[in-house]
Parts: sequence; C-alpha cells; structure tokens
Amino acid sequence: MDSKPGNAIASNLMAVSRETDYLIVGAGIAGLRAAIELCEEGRVLVVTKEALDESNTHYAQGGIAVALGGTEDVSLHLDDTVGAGDGLVYREAARVLVEEGPLRVEELLRWGTGFDRENGRLMLTREGAHSRNRILHANGDATGAEIGRSLLAHARAQRNITLLEWTTTVDLIVEDGAVTGALLLDTAGELIAVRARAVLLASGGAGQVYSDTTNPAVATGDGIAMAWRAGADISDMEFYQFHPTALSLPGVPRFLLSEALRGEGAYLRNSRGERFMERYHPLLELAPRDVVARAITREGTGADGAPHLVYLDMRHVTGIDLRKRFPGISAFLGQHGLDLSRDLIPVRPAAHYLMGGVRTDVNGRTSLPRLYAAGEVACTCVHGANRLASNSLLEGLVFGARAAAAMREAGDVPTGEGAGARSFALLPPADEAAVLKELQQKMWQNAGLLRDAAGLSAMQQELERLRREPAASRASLELENLHAVAELIVMSALAREESRGAHYRNDFPGRDDARFARHSIVRGRTVSFEAAPEAVLTR
Ligand code: SIN
Repeated sequence: MDSKPGNAIASNLMAVSRETDYLIVGAGIAGLRAAIELCEEGRVLVVTKEALDESNTHYAQGGIAVALGGTEDVSLHLDDTVGAGDGLVYREAARVLVEEGPLRVEELLRWGTGFDRENGRLMLTREGAHSRNRILHANGDATGAEIGRSLLAHARAQRNITLLEWTTTVDLIVEDGAVTGALLLDTAGELIAVRARAVLLASGGAGQVYSDTTNPAVATGDGIAMAWRAGADISDMEFYQFHPTALSLPGVPRFLLSEALRGEGAYLRNSRGERFMERYHPLLELAPRDVVARAITREGTGADGAPHLVYLDMRHVTGIDLRKRFPGISAFLGQHGLDLSRDLIPVRPAAHYLMGGVRTDVNGRTSLPRLYAAGEVACTCVHGANRLASNSLLEGLVFGARAAAAMREAGDVPTGEGAGARSFALLPPADEAAVLKELQQKMWQNAGLLRDAAGLSAMQQELERLRREPAASRASLELENLHAVAELIVMSALAREESRGAHYRNDFPGRDDARFARHSIVRGRTVSFEAAPEAVLTR
C-alpha cells in the first residue's frame, strides 16, 4: 500500500458496460466534424467532460486560415506553413491541410457558419508569417465560438449522434494490443466501460500544464496522457507554442490578444517606447510566432533579470473601428480600464498550442490499432516546430474528417470482457490543488520559452516529487494527465539538444539539422528521433 498523501487505501471500481460503433472523446472542432462524417455509418457517441461549448475551439479568436483564391493561393499557403515550421513540417500533411481546407470551409459556409463579410464578400485578414490576407473571422474576434456553434447545430440535426456532456474519460481500454473502447466517469462517480469499433481522441491541448496559458481549464492533455498510458507513440512534445501577446496585468487571467491585432497594424513597443522587432526579423510584428514570443521575452527582461513591460500599440491605427472589429477583446480590456485606440496594452507570452501529441499519419491512425487522433491532441507533424497562425481550426476540420473516414475501416465492435475496472486512491491527494499549482509554476520556470539542461533535469526531479495516485474524480485524473504531459515535454526537450521553432535551448542556441532534422518519438520512457518522410528543411 502506498504512503503518498491521500492514497492510504486503493479502491477497485467496476464499470457498467455500454456499446457504440464510434467513440469520440472531445467535442471541439475535430470531434464534431468527425462525428458528422461518421453518423451515416453507425452509432456515434461524443463525450466531453464539460458543457458542449467549452473547448479550446470556443476560445479561438483570430480566425481560420484558408486559401480560397485558387491554385497559387493554395501553394503559397503551403509555403507559409512549411516556412513557419522551421524545418520540421511533414510536407504531405501540410499539402493535405491546404488543399482540403477550402472544401471543408465551403462545407462550413453551407452549414451556416457566419464568417464576417463586407459588401457580401468574405473579409480576410492577415497574421504572422502569412504572405497574404487569407484568414476568415467571425463576429470580429470570436471565430472559434461561431464555428463551434454551427458545427454543433449541424451535428444535433443528424441522426445517430449522441452527445454526452460532463463525462470524464479515464483511460483507453486495450485488449490484445488494440484499443477496444474507453472507461468513462460520470458526475455520479459511476464508471462506464464503452466498447467501440474505433475510438477517436479529439480532446484538444494541454495549456494547463503551464501557469501562464491562454487555454481554458479543460485543456489538461487528457488524450495524450491516456494514449501514452495505453502504449501509443507520442511525438514532438518539446514543441509548445507560446502566443506572444497575452494580456499582462497583475491578478488578471492571461487573456489572449489575437495576432489579428498585429494583422490590422498593431506595433510592439518595449518599456522605452521603442518598436523593437526590426532587431529580430524582417517581417517585424508579423514574424513567425516563436520569433515574436522570444523577442518579447528578451525585451521584457532587464540586464539584471528584472521584468520590463512590453506593449501592443494600436493608437496609430486609423480607418478601422477597433471596437467593432475586435468586440470581445475590447470588452475584456474595457473591464480593466483599457481601450485599444487610446492605451498601450501590456503583453507577455503565454502557453497556447501544442504542436506535439499522439503520433498519427495523415488519416489519423495512431500506432495502436482502432485508436485514431485528430486536432491539437494529434501530431501529424503538419506544424513542424512552430504552427502557422490560424492553421489550427483548419487542422481540426481537415484531419477530423479524414480520421473519421479512416475509422470506417475498423472491424466490428470487439467482443470480450474489456478492462472495465481500474484502481484508484480512495481519497484525492490532500495537497492536490497545491501540487497542480506547483507543477504549473515549475513547468513555466524550467520548461517554458527558454530552456536548458539544468532546468529541465531539475524539473524531472520535481516531477518525481509531485507524482500522486489519482482518486476517481475529474480533478484527480486531470492532475495525473498534466503530470504525464509535463513528463513528456521535459524528456523530449532534454533530448533535443538544439534550438528550433518553439523549442529554445539556452545551452544549444543553434539549429542542428545534422542531428535533429527529425521528430522526437516517445515510446514508454524512451525518446528517439525519426525522420518523417519528406520532412522539409527550410528557413
Ligand atoms: C490568435 O487569434 O492570435 C490565435 C490564433 C491561433 O492560435 O492561430
């Protein structure tokens, strides 16, 4: 018996059984798009641990990048995606993304997504590292919420789709090396073993692994942690994208200030009032996101290590009604006495998007039979080491639909008993909330924007100290999952002894293509590096 806090007695909960054809974990853009694709094929069960509209998708502000202007536009979108990814984009995945993106977005238009228009024409904005304006937006700065609304309405109108809210997925069920379902936990504390022909992880990202994040509380890396526990390959976990401009006000959440603000002309200024981006990149404020985030971190740190303020400045921008173009951002800033057209807005980076995840091919197939993944939880290597702005909603649509198409190949619902039980600590660890906070803060300090071997090794020891057995509660399971994600990030970041894209090592500041133009793969507790076919070396 374990002596860790809260873990005095272990309990073995038996699950009740349920069956479906397709089980989808997560109700964001990838999960809903997949459900719509599958509903003619059989029963689809979509589970989400909170309300249906609470996901990273809902909070996506800036938009969805898509090349609606024909072949040349598609080819430029491919070049931009590959260029931003700093030598690690899997070109085939990027080709699929940009070529199928227009079809998926036209579908959204047919299903009633209300993208912003001017004189009847779709409005297009620009963000960092895009060579032209190709980003659609909705309700100004609430693009994800509008796409989520229309997808959910469309899914609800289909037969065969059951949407199950407030249900936590505990673990995948693995039999004879294949995934045959998942173990769920409802709010009454009952375990449910769902057997399915195929399981899709569409559970989103893991921003809560860091103290500073733009992500909502639900982003706890559940799918990645479950897949790792089940034995799936996990890839590129050292590449966590830090959004350059989250609001930086004491005691205020790290609210996202969309890159579209810079697309509409915002400058970045340091505490001396200087624009500084010309010292870092020819594209200035619209440089790739990793470059801008590090520049802000450097400008925001004095020679003595003391924090200095860095600002977004839109005071010079004329010809746009900023409150109309950015209503959500303006309202949030207004609550804190700030106005885009009048004030300098203090910003600093925050964890935003995980390029790594459960390794898949371009059809969402993972290394485990019958297990698929799509969206932020997955790693197709489409983003390489740094995602191009506003490619993530498109990724969810394109790869959600493709994974669903591949899931149709899975055989019948597997028969058998299934692992319908799991042992839990009887009580949550007494220090659960404190452990979570410490893990998040230590990850920010030791495995954040700027890393080195000493900090990462120290973090590995901290993680041993912070390991707890979970109880059968959502909070306990989320802590277990974040701990797993932290371990994956740290072991991958230690192994990659170079700097590339979002992964910057102070002790290895250069890019080392000879050793590391490859993707990290974690199998069990071993990290290796493997080339994706056609990995593209650029930039
Ligand atoms: C933003 O609006 O800046 C976020 C968009 C993205 O993450 O691509």
